[in-house]
Amino acid sequence: MSSVIKSVSIIGAGLMGAGIAQSIAAAPALIAKGVAVTLVDVGEDRLANGKKIISSSLARVAKKKFDGDKAQADAFVADTLARITFSTDAGLAAAHSDLVVEAIVENLDAKQKLFRDLDTRAPKTTIFASNTSSLPISEIAKSTLSRRDRFAGLHFFNPVPQMKLVEIVRTQELSDTAYASLKDLVVGMGKVGVECKDTPGFIVNRLLVPYMLEAIRMVERGEASKEDVDIAMKLGAGYPMGPFELADYVGLDTTKFITEGWFASGKGLQGKELVSPPASLGKLVEEGKFGRKNGEGFYKY
Ligand code: CAA
Ligand code: NAD
Repeated sequence: MSSVIKSVSIIGAGLMGAGIAQSIAAAPALIAKGVAVTLVDVGEDRLANGKKIISSSLARVAKKKFDGDKAQADAFVADTLARITFSTDAGLAAAHSDLVVEAIVENLDAKQKLFRDLDTRAPKTTIFASNTSSLPISEIAKSTLSRRDRFAGLHFFNPVPQMKLVEIVRTQELSDTAYASLKDLVVGMGKVGVECKDTPGFIVNRLLVPYMLEAIRMVERGEASKEDVDIAMKLGAGYPMGPFELADYVGLDTTKFITEGWFASGKGLQGKELVSPPASLGKLVEEGKFGRKNGEGFYKY
């Protein structure tokens, strides 16, 4: 049995939050059910950034979908954007939501503080989910008082409108009803959900993050250039992007937060050194080079 999710709030209008909101607002099955979506961030400038991410992604989808028909493409972009409510009031949004999906900075304290606040504002029935890349869902859920059976991980992949997978992370306390509701939403978004335990990095990042970090260490050791590593993994292993292109795409700030938080907690992780933060990653972030999203990371854009 599942209960139908009719309204969703996404907290954090960055790369991921914007993509999740867009993917809900553009999903035909969810439009037919009248699912409402609200995108929240801390300030108008951040919301404007989210809106920009959504507009350019929708324009990309529309160009292909309407085969160059500009009027139809423009209408699709405008209609989809119009289905998203933009807000700076997370509490108010949560008060009217069946589901809250958090996609803020990868920091345990920040996530716990947000959910502690929202727990007092959202109806008892509202399901909470985190899009965390690496933090334990059960640790984040500790910030809520009586919602552990309705607290899950809902882990999307970047770029969300294009990537089909969602990891649905089940803690031991998550109820079958809440899990089924999340699974229904994922299917309604046209995506494929896989069930994961609340283990470090779930499935994808447990494999992907150590790989990306080892590529950085390989270049630090002088064993190959980053350009050659990227070419090698694309042409030799069939990956769509090399590890340096991918780190820039994920965001070097986010990649650094993932590795630091994960390394520091080390919970349930055999081979902790696999996620030790490489020095060159820290240096680029210190220099304000966050990757593709702000014009420079390992590469210039
Ligand atoms: N919005 C909408 N559509 C997009 C898009 C976006 N932001 N980016 C790409 N696309 C679409 C394009 O429109 C195109 O669609 P069609 O196939 O229908 O034509 C398709 O994606 C391919 O795009 P391009 O031809 O322009 O470029 P590409 O072939 O280089 O693909 C890519 C781009 C999909 C990003 C591809 O390079 C890729 O899959 N890269 C790897 C991405 C990846 O591994 N993501 C996971 C990161 S890890 C993570 O997210 C978890 C975490 O916790 C950190
Ligand atoms: P981002 O830096 O692009 O966006 C984060 C947004 O959250 C910013 O706009 C920021 O202003 C906002 N924010 C911060 N604190 C907030 C608060 N208290 N209330 C409301 N908004 C707040 O980051 P991102 O890449 O979108 O990552 C977000 C989350 O998703 C992280 O937990 C990250 O690990 C995870 N994730 C990232 C990727 C990726 O490839 N970038 C993939 C999967 C999961």
